[in-house]
Amino acid sequence: MSDEIKKGLLGIVVDETEVSKVMPEINSLTYRGYAAQDLCAKCKFEEVAYLILNGELPNKNQLKKFENQERKERKLSNTIIQDIKRFPKTAHPMDVARTAVSIMGLEDKETKDNSTEANMRKVMRIFAKMPVALAAFYRARKGKKIISPKKNLSFSENFFYMCFGKVPNKEIVKAFDVSLILYAEHSFNVSTFTARTITSSLSDIHGAITGAIASLKGPLHGGANEEVMHMMKKIKKPENAFKWINKALDNKDVVMGFGHRVYKSGDSRVPTMREYFGKVAKLKKDKKFEKIYDIVEKVMIERKNIHPNVDYPTGPTYHLMGFDTDFFTPIFVISRITGWSAHIIEQYAANKLIRPLAKYKGNQHRKVVQLNQR
Ligand SMILES: CC(C)(COP(=O)(O)OP(=O)(O)OC[C@H]1O[C@@H](n2cnc3c(N)ncnc32)[C@H](O)[C@@H]1OP(=O)(O)O)[C@@H](O)C(=O)NCCC(=O)NCCS
Repeated sequence: MSDEIKKGLLGIVVDETEVSKVMPEINSLTYRGYAAQDLCAKCKFEEVAYLILNGELPNKNQLKKFENQERKERKLSNTIIQDIKRFPKTAHPMDVARTAVSIMGLEDKETKDNSTEANMRKVMRIFAKMPVALAAFYRARKGKKIISPKKNLSFSENFFYMCFGKVPNKEIVKAFDVSLILYAEHSFNVSTFTARTITSSLSDIHGAITGAIASLKGPLHGGANEEVMHMMKKIKKPENAFKWINKALDNKDVVMGFGHRVYKSGDSRVPTMREYFGKVAKLKKDKKFEKIYDIVEKVMIERKNIHPNVDYPTGPTYHLMGFDTDFFTPIFVISRITGWSAHIIEQYAANKLIRPLAKYKGNQHRKVVQLNQR
């Protein structure tokens, strides 16, 4: 056995998956073999969610059934609604998401059943209820009345409706749908690996997703989309952008929304999301954020040859859609539940306890001295 340490498991292949792959031959992230940008162009989010969970794109009947199930499961228990109203208004919505799924686990009658069939039913419940819980907190913390989900609205339309009380125009909904498709899955990233690690002890799906949410919160992972917005707000106006980013690089700061463990010459999701960011900016008649975006990107590539990742365009897009900045990563959650769940089910199907080794560098063996002699 080699003693060589691969910090961060850099370059280590730990298992197999059928869910997704970055295919170098088409330079793209693929879900079950389909390029993510192709799915964005031809599908709505529910179709992609079905694909990730079931392995194939749905036909019309399968999609209808899937959508009906999701819409039927949206309602939250009174306990969760009351809890959400009581949560501190200052709580980060990622902590609300983490707590909400944990409470769902307490309430779910099938928590102990880890069969694929039961897990698929539980996934559907978590997938349908999470946006409702987050939207409830979105409003409750502002002292606004919680809005119940509507069965005649799509997944994305319903989320806007529950947060803002209205559904925006089709192009905005499409841009949101596209962001969900691009966020849905990304192989063995840190949150998915967390979910698989928890699953590997044969723990349950609610626990695995709770852990995955905690992992996604970090700024080096999902939290980056929020940090991008904080950066853009600090820059304030395009005239400041060039100086700001050069100073950040002179200070050797990590610039959020740039770089990636897998993509070293550009994240294949970025061009699609950048296009939709542009569409939303045009609809909202905003030029400021696009200009800041372009200047920072140009300097990052010229000075560091580091390209943006998908969090860079989603940050300002969600801002222009009207979402509070701390809701950007929770939006990532409502989408990534699909990818996490597919991996959790895959892990159960061919499980091996995940238990790596560590190279010990602590004290050598020593004898305990009694308290009165220390
Ligand atoms: C995503 C990330 C953690 C990948 O990390 P990694 O694969 O471990 O790569 P490293 O952090 O070792 O980066 C390699 C080099 O590029 C630099 N670098 C990478 N991303 C950078 C960034 N966003 N800003 C500035 N420098 C960066 C590192 O400082 C390092 O430089 P060095 O070799 O001189 O020390 C890293 O790029 C990062 O922190 N990005 C910002 C957070 C982010 O946007 N996360 C979302 C990912 S989807």
